[in-house]
Amino acid sequence: MSYYHVSPPPKWRIARRFGVAVAAVVILAALGAGYALGRPVAVLVDGAEIVVENDATVADLIAAAAFVAPPGDLRAVDGGIAEPEAGSPATIIRNGRPASPAQRLYRGDVLVSRRGSDRLESTEVTQVVMDFETVVEGEGPVTELVRPGTPGLKRVTRGVVSLIEVDVEVLTPPVDEVLKRTKTRPGMKLVALTFDDGPWPLHTEEILDILRARDVPATFFLLGRQVKRYPGIVRRIDDEGHLLGNHTYAHKYFSKESSATVRREVARGRAAIRTAAGVSTPWLRPPYGAMSDVAWREVRAAGSRVVHWDVDSRDWRKPGAKRIVTTVTNNVRPGSIVLMHDGGGDRSQTVRALPHIIKRLRARGYSFVTVDELVKAQGVRLAPAAKAAKENRPKQ
Ligand code: NI
Repeated sequence: MSYYHVSPPPKWRIARRFGVAVAAVVILAALGAGYALGRPVAVLVDGAEIVVENDATVADLIAAAAFVAPPGDLRAVDGGIAEPEAGSPATIIRNGRPASPAQRLYRGDVLVSRRGSDRLESTEVTQVVMDFETVVEGEGPVTELVRPGTPGLKRVTRGVVSLIEVDVEVLTPPVDEVLKRTKTRPGMKLVALTFDDGPWPLHTEEILDILRARDVPATFFLLGRQVKRYPGIVRRIDDEGHLLGNHTYAHKYFSKESSATVRREVARGRAAIRTAAGVSTPWLRPPYGAMSDVAWREVRAAGSRVVHWDVDSRDWRKPGAKRIVTTVTNNVRPGSIVLMHDGGGDRSQTVRALPHIIKRLRARGYSFVTVDELVKAQGVRLAPAAKAAKENRPKQ
């Protein structure tokens, strides 16, 4: 069925909802085709005149939602609205009596529409995987797996549309993953130099020159946004046998970020390195070393291996090259992981300090290794790249 025109329906409807009676304007020019089926019929709907085909029914009128009251809402199991206007359709009072949908409309009918009644959504019973938490104990630069986590399972009765849970029965509780942060004690004089915040033009290359000339392997925790700008430097780091680590994309403070941001920062940082050098690194150093329960869970779910440090060169304070040398060499122990910076600003002091650090530590009998070699030498049972159970979260 078609309606032969009333003044613009959407406006009309708004007007009606505000209780303003609006008279219909019938556009006769539009009637053409209707005459073939018989004379169109003018009826009054909620005080406004509209013209319909002469065989139109109450159901047709309801279907033309613009002219009548809205349907009821679909109510969620908690009483809220699961979906507006997805309830029962409007009802029509015709000349003072409830009209059935099949009834035909006649000229001069006075029709009043009433909002449809609400419906309650149905429920479903489903099994939902429960994610496990990651618990971290102790202090130290590397993370040992004490106990793997296992996901749990729950039976949930929930609204089909709202996904609001009305009944939950835990079938198998999840078991927390337990990590222990620990120092590396390889029993040998091994030390790992690490450089953060690069790649950085000039400084990273100067550092690479120094390391190459002295045959010293190191670990570079790279910032994704820098990797994108200087992929050639990243390839050189990789070509020269150093370990590539992820320092996230944009150096955000994980303690304050949502799980979604942590997940994205880790993934984008890793992807940038993969694009630049074809290496998908699990090694992750969180910016500022900052972590939270949420961040631990996300980085573990991403299969990352978190590496902090036990010797901070404090080179970022720019205390002078000499001071950087003594801070590092006074604090290194067998198994130490040393934090330095090749990016993030002027690192000329770090560059000047580096040959002296290498020389002094070698003189004391130290060998230089990358972080993965240090961990291997220590025999730490590192947390494997766990696959996180994806909880069947209700869609927002
Ligand atoms: Ni940093």
